[in-house]
Amino acid sequence: MANSNLSNAKNAKNDEFYTQYHDIEKEINAYLEFNPDVFRDKTVLLPCDDPEWSNFTKFFAQNFARFGLKKLISTSYAADSKKYKTGYQPTLFEVNDPQFDYNKTTKNGKIFSLTHDKTGDGKIDVNDLEWHYLEGDGDFKSKEIKKLQDEADIIITNPPFSLFRNFLAWIVQAGKQFMIIGNMNAITYKEVFPLIKENKAWLGATGNGSDMVFAVPKGAEVDEKDRQKAARLGYVGDYTRLGNSCWFTNLDHGRRHQTLPLMTMADNLKYSKHKEIKGKESYDRYENYSAIEVPFTDAIPSDYDGIMGVPISFLDKYCPEQFEIIGSNLTHGIPMFEVAKKGTFAQGGPSFYTANGDSTFKRIYTRILIKHKNTKK
Ligand SMILES: C[S@@+](CC[C@H](N)C(=O)[O-])C[C@H]1O[C@@H](n2cnc3c(N)ncnc32)[C@H](O)[C@@H]1O
Repeated sequence: MANSNLSNAKNAKNDEFYTQYHDIEKEINAYLEFNPDVFRDKTVLLPCDDPEWSNFTKFFAQNFARFGLKKLISTSYAADSKKYKTGYQPTLFEVNDPQFDYNKTTKNGKIFSLTHDKTGDGKIDVNDLEWHYLEGDGDFKSKEIKKLQDEADIIITNPPFSLFRNFLAWIVQAGKQFMIIGNMNAITYKEVFPLIKENKAWLGATGNGSDMVFAVPKGAEVDEKDRQKAARLGYVGDYTRLGNSCWFTNLDHGRRHQTLPLMTMADNLKYSKHKEIKGKESYDRYENYSAIEVPFTDAIPSDYDGIMGVPISFLDKYCPEQFEIIGSNLTHGIPMFEVAKKGTFAQGGPSFYTANGDSTFKRIYTRILIKHKNTKK
C-alpha cells in the first residue's frame, strides 16, 4: 500500500514535466525532412499543455507560417484539477489581461488559438495567439476537448505520464495523426503493442531510449540522482531527466526506412563485440518458444530466417521493410511449468527462458519476436 502510494505520487509528479524546445525542434525536423508539407493546411492540437510557458505552443506559433499551418490550438488543464499541486500563480500575461477572472484562473482550463497575424506586424508568432477560459477544466477526456480533437488533424504533446495509456487510446479511437512523448516500456502495454506490431504506430525519429531532460515546476521535488544527471547534460536548476523516453507517432519519417546493417550468424559468432555471442557455437534457443535469443540489436544475424527474440530497444532501429514483428514474450511465452517438468527457474510473468545446462533456466528480460522479411544469405 505504502509502495503504491509512493508510486502514485511519483507518477503524479512526472505528470508535470515540461518538454525542452530543442527536443521538440529536433523531432519535428525529422518529419519535415521526410515530407516538407507534413503540416501544410493542417490544424494542430496541443492538448495537455500550459500554453503560457509551453515550448510546444511557442515552437508551433513561431513556425506557423513556415509550416503552412491552418490553425494552432493549445489547451491547458486547470491548476485545481492537477494531481500534483505546484503552488499555482497566474502569469502576468493572464493577470494583466481584461479577461482575467480570479475564480476561473484555478478552476478552468484555457484555450489558446492562432490562425492569422492578429497584431498586424507582418508576421505570425506567439503575439498573435488569442485565448479565453474553457468552460471546463481542460481534461482531455471532456466533451469540450473532444470537440477540439474532432477539429484537429494532428495531435502533439507530452501527455501526463500517469495517463499515457488512456491518452493514446483517446487519439487512436479518433483516428488522428499524432506525435506524443512516452516511455519505451509502454511498448509492451497491451494497448500499445498491437499498434506497433500492425505498423499503426512506431517510434519517433529522435531521442529514443535516451535520457530526455524536462523542466519541472519551480521548487518541485526532484530525485537527486536525476537532477544530477540533468546537470551533467547542462541543465542546472529546475530540471530532471527521464531515462527511456521516446516519441510515439503514426506520422512517417525517414529514420524508420533505413535498414539495419547486419553480419551473418557465422560472423557474429566469430567477431561479435559482445562476449555473450563471440566464441559460442550457436545462439541460445528459448526453452518455451521456438526462437533464438538475440540479446543485442546489432547481433541480429542477417541470414537467419526463423523467429528471433530481441530487446525492446530494437524498435529504435525497426525498419518495416526489413523486419516483421511476430509478437513478444507477453503474447507468445508458453508457461514454463508446461515445458520444463523438472528444473529450477525464477517465475514471473510470461517470459522466455534459456537453459543454463545444469537443470536451471535463465529468465530473459522483455523480448520482441521478429523475423526477417527477406533473409540476406
Ligand atoms: C507531462 S506535462 C507536459 C506539458 C507540456 N505538454 C510540455 O510537454 O511541456 C502534462 C500536462 O498535462 C496535464 N494534465 C494532467 N492530467 C490531465 C488531463 N486529464 N487532461 C489534460 N491535461 C492533463 C498536466 O497537469 C501537465 O500540465
